[in-house]
Amino acid sequence: MKQTTLNDCRLIELDTIGHQRRGNLTVCENGYNMPFDVKRVYYLYDVPGGESRGGHSHRELHEMIVAVSGSFTVTLDDGKEKRSYMLNRSNKGLHIVPGIWRTLDDFSSGAVCLVLASDKYIEADYIRLYEDFLESKSEN
Ligand code: TYD
Repeated sequence: MKQTTLNDCRLIELDTIGHQRRGNLTVCENGYNMPFDVKRVYYLYDVPGGESRGGHSHRELHEMIVAVSGSFTVTLDDGKEKRSYMLNRSNKGLHIVPGIWRTLDDFSSGAVCLVLASDKYIEADYIRLYEDFLESKSEN
């Protein structure tokens, strides 16, 4: 986890099957276009303007974040530098590897943040204090 950096996180273009009259369909499939196997899906919605989510890192968990509706900003931090992504496309997924501090804010009205995760909810996998995160990045 110590070794992961912002360069290990990337935006993934998800296959979209579009149809002029019938709309679009985007696929996330284990073993096909997902960089990890998905075990859990959750989504954030009705986030009031000005509210911030996230504010933690994970020890082992991989996540992919998709703005399936509306927009929001994801700021990633590897302890050395930060990078922000404005997500506003339903066919773009941001893959976040373990060991990256993430903050989500600037939610537009009606935004829905879909999160695909590599494991079930395990509170012990969270690092919720920034100083603990920095310490984890400097451990041998
Ligand atoms: P948290 O991860 O802190 O939310 P966010 O990072 O989006 O601000 O989770 C908020 C609450 O929901 C916390 O009490 C844990 C709980 N929770 C679950 O029970 N299962 C889950 O899969 C997730 C993601 C959160």
